[in-house]
Amino acid sequence: MSKLRIGLAGLGRLGQRYAENLARAVPRAELAAVCSPVDAERAWARDTLGVATVHETYEQMLADPGIDAVVLVTPTSLHAAQIEQALDAGKHVFCEKPLSLELDDCRRAAAHAAKATKRAMVGFVRRFDESYRHAFMHIEGGGIGRPFLVYSQTTDLADPSGAFLKFAPTSGGIFLDCSVHDVDLARWLLGRPKAKKVYATGTVAMYPPLEAIKDVDNGIAIVEFEGGQMAMFYASRTQAHGHDTHTDVTGTGGKVSIGRNPRADRVEISDAAGVRNTVLPSFYERFAPAFVTQARHFVDAVLDDTPFDLTMDDAVEATRIAIALRESQQSGQPVLLD
Ligand code: NAI
Repeated sequence: MSKLRIGLAGLGRLGQRYAENLARAVPRAELAAVCSPVDAERAWARDTLGVATVHETYEQMLADPGIDAVVLVTPTSLHAAQIEQALDAGKHVFCEKPLSLELDDCRRAAAHAAKATKRAMVGFVRRFDESYRHAFMHIEGGGIGRPFLVYSQTTDLADPSGAFLKFAPTSGGIFLDCSVHDVDLARWLLGRPKAKKVYATGTVAMYPPLEAIKDVDNGIAIVEFEGGQMAMFYASRTQAHGHDTHTDVTGTGGKVSIGRNPRADRVEISDAAGVRNTVLPSFYERFAPAFVTQARHFVDAVLDDTPFDLTMDDAVEATRIAIALRESQQSGQPVLLD
């Protein structure tokens, strides 16, 4: 097989970026088909990217013998079942994070993937970012001694229109939607320790409608791992300055920080008002190259039959911890993990 023929499901905010990447920036992939229930999204794929085969339903796309693999950028509530359907249809599958909103669904999808003849991977894009990779290699090479603490935050620019409130009820809450990235990073950077206890809390600083769905727009969390390692997380939807994702890892022999100044470019302006730089507006500007690297990794691993960098167990574990954080935030109690 010279190229992996991909069918993409989901052409929303992130799915359109995936479509552009698969069509233009992943040489070993062919964006052979897309599916969307929305007329305008199908028309966009046809007219903007020249995608020849455009399906109205996911089931129609899975029945298409012209595709080898499926990429899912659909709402999180659909992920687990759509992964299983793809594997049953004999297609490899890449799915955006998180694996599911519920732990039982995660476990079922992972068990299904373990028995399937085709392969499944859940994406956590930060693992494919050059700066995070550099930090990982520094830690793995012993550069900070024994790492024991991660601080990691995912914080979005405030949106005065409150547009995110539309998808908030189906996002799984701030910890599952945002902190799940930090949870996965913490596990990766600390050497995949097992979580034993979590505590989370939060506040509604700007968006009162979140109260009705027991969500918050600013959340903080602590995770204790076996062996004495720890992590602290902060997630926010209300930052005044921009998208500010950064991570610190502390070890017995030093510390590594990734992305501390969320600068939009390398320009720094100095004048009578002080010294300043502009800030990244959203996650996509920060991680655009990593989305391409991640897509290439999936395609290469399938075509060359090499392992994925992320296992389904990684996806289940990150989701398990993030779901426990949501439970702790809603109950006000620490949650013990078995
Ligand atoms: P969105 O709501 O903008 O897009 C969802 C898309 O799925 C729409 O095109 C919709 O038409 C389509 N869709 C709905 N039901 C479908 C079905 N049955 N079959 C096929 N398509 C269907 O959502 P957004 O923001 O693009 O998020 C999608 C996923 O990407 C979520 O799981 C989210 O967690 C993840 N995401 C990941 C990010 C990251 O940093 N890695 C950032 C943003 C989103």
